[in-house]
Amino acid sequence: MSENIDSLLDESRGVIAKAMREYAPDIAIASSFSAEDILIFSLMREADPKARMFALDTGRLNPETYECAEAVRRKFGVQIEWYFPDTAAVEELERSKGVMSFRESAANRKECCRIRKVEPLGRALSGLKAWVTGLRKGQGVTRSGLEFFEDDAAHGIVKVNPLISWDYWAVLDYVRREGLPYNRLLDAGYKSIGCAPCTRAVAEGEDERAGRWWWEDPDHKECGLHLPPTHGAGI
Ligand code: ADX
Ligand code: SF4
Repeated sequence: MSENIDSLLDESRGVIAKAMREYAPDIAIASSFSAEDILIFSLMREADPKARMFALDTGRLNPETYECAEAVRRKFGVQIEWYFPDTAAVEELERSKGVMSFRESAANRKECCRIRKVEPLGRALSGLKAWVTGLRKGQGVTRSGLEFFEDDAAHGIVKVNPLISWDYWAVLDYVRREGLPYNRLLDAGYKSIGCAPCTRAVAEGEDERAGRWWWEDPDHKECGLHLPPTHGAGI
């Protein structure tokens, strides 16, 4: 392992230890079963064997993501706290606009993300003092100003981002080296994985998140889970 990864690991372990000391048991990682989330969860478990994980099941995830979730559940013996969208809201959306409305306009895309991700996230975060994410600065223009500890004003809790300094390849190298489960779509050229109809593989040289909502402008590629403004939480 390179010295670089060792120092990144030290930094992330420090952030996680501080967050767990301060907020456990009212802290959980939000997991999309990205390699980042699984790496972080393994470090959270080192710090606290009762570390928690929640996940938002949008109803549109790839089968490979569910397989990965199951591998994570078995590997760590973790009871994943799943959240689903409101049934009536999804029924209304699909009856009125069909099952692919998100391709028709940015407003429709945001509406679908709001129903399937943002509203369930609000329920997942209620009762927590802090949430942990796998966000990295290298993930694009919307993420370059990230900090380890942020004040998530929208939810009134602290947001912890332990991997902000890592790059994609360092994460993947570590996960493979440690034999941690990972989504097999990563071996098929995907670098960022969300819902199946809104995610494609990326070509060599393309941005990491070029395969997410690829028909939209890169400056606005957020679904509402991670909204600015957030500022340093000063813990
Ligand atoms: S997104 O906002 O564009 O969908 P992205 O896929 O980059 O986010 O993931 C960034 C972080 O958001 C993940 O590391 C994870 O912490 C959280 N996240 C994203 N999707 C989910 C999900 N379906 N369930 C729980 N957490 C999620
Ligand atoms: Fe809907 Fe696509 Fe957003 Fe998933 S990523 S919630 S399918 S618009």
